Amino acid sequence: MQWNTQNYLDQHGFIIDRGQALVDLLAPQADERILDLGCGTGHVTQTIAERGAMAVGVDASPEMISSASTRFPHLDFRLADAAELPFEGEFDAVFSHATLHWVTRAEEAIRGMHRALKPGGRVVAELGGWRNVEALQAAFGQALHKVAGHAYRCPWYFPSLSEYAALLEANGFVVRAAWHFDLATPLNGKDGLRNWLTQFLPDHLATLDETIREAVLAATEASARVSLRRDGVWFADYRRLRVMAEKAGSGVA
Ligand code: BEZ
Repeated sequence: MQWNTQNYLDQHGFIIDRGQALVDLLAPQADERILDLGCGTGHVTQTIAERGAMAVGVDASPEMISSASTRFPHLDFRLADAAELPFEGEFDAVFSHATLHWVTRAEEAIRGMHRALKPGGRVVAELGGWRNVEALQAAFGQALHKVAGHAYRCPWYFPSLSEYAALLEANGFVVRAAWHFDLATPLNGKDGLRNWLTQFLPDHLATLDETIREAVLAATEASARVSLRRDGVWFADYRRLRVMAEKAGSGVA
């Protein structure tokens, strides 16, 4: 998928703010080597580096890597698919915010994080969890079907806590903590819902002609109004899955 990095910053900058908050949980230490998996615009990679760690940002989007490298030329950014990470035992920690739900080859991503870590290295990650943006997707799916005659398919991987913890454990991690929680998220302005849909579901919308696209967006707004609009503000019904895990050592338990 092609990312419009400026639109992402203008409309969905809250994602970066939340990534920066998750850095507290990571607690980077001076001289640690940390992989920021799905670094996007590079702002959070910069926050990690400001704490004294050596940060490497990777992203599968050439637009994001180009934007991050231009904005933060002193940092190390690389183009890489999360399901095909090229690193071997070189990181103290892998950090990932709002990325792993885009990676439907979840087990490959987990194996790649495991390979990339030194023994005892940690993962701190947050992604969309089970039933994330459920009302939003239901409204969009109905509108897409009714107006355009197209079937909606969820493009994301939103695992439950137990499913993701089991996948980590099956691939050499010890899960230290995990949370699955609601995080209703206000969207910017009167076009907040349609901006979100346009940014994050381009594959469903880009193939529609202008009039149909407009009608799908209007129908989504009409049906989502009851569940996702409060006091004149649109909300996305986010549900987050946050995990902290360690690469298991080879010692005897
Ligand atoms: C999320 O952060 O949960 C999310 C963002 C964009 C699309 C889908 C989910």
